[in-house]
Amino acid sequence: MNLAIRNSIKSFIVRYKNRAVATINWLGDYGMHWFMKEFIVGREFQGQMIGTFLYRFSENFMKSTLKENWKVCIDLRASKGQEGFYRSLGFQIVSEKETGSGMEKMPGEE
Ligand SMILES: CC(C)(COP(=O)(O)OP(=O)(O)OC[C@H]1O[C@@H](n2cnc3c(N)ncnc32)[C@H](O)[C@@H]1OP(=O)(O)O)[C@@H](O)C(=O)NCCC(=O)NCCS
Repeated sequence: MNLAIRNSIKSFIVRYKNRAVATINWLGDYGMHWFMKEFIVGREFQGQMIGTFLYRFSENFMKSTLKENWKVCIDLRASKGQEGFYRSLGFQIVSEKETGSGMEKMPGEE
């Protein structure tokens, strides 16, 4: 996990009394795509809009890197039950009909 976070392109962290209480980590190309990796708000800090703040801060950062008329696509994998939260941030579930299916593979487990 530490290695994965260190190698994220961009990480934002919320600290409280010098302790990291929330983080969001991204892979992105500063052009067309950003992909959300870990997004975690400490249990006792959840439900206080910290997640919303971290996400909006990230999105504003991404927008700030775009040149005029560029468009960016932000992708994520919602944990089961979190879809409502991401809808509140403006995300839509991609439908197979419109965009084709998301696909993945874990090498060695097939
Ligand atoms: C998901 C997570 C990042 C949200 O962060 P948070 O700081 O708790 O969320 P916020 O306080 O900003 O919530 C904002 C709004 O989304 C709603 N919301 C939060 N989680 C939700 C869920 N699972 N389903 C529907 N709505 C949800 C909140 O009720 C709130 O709505 P309101 O303003 O109408 O009250 C956080 O709960 C978390 O870390 N969970 C465990 C790890 C995890 O699942 N991470 C995501 C991996 S995909």
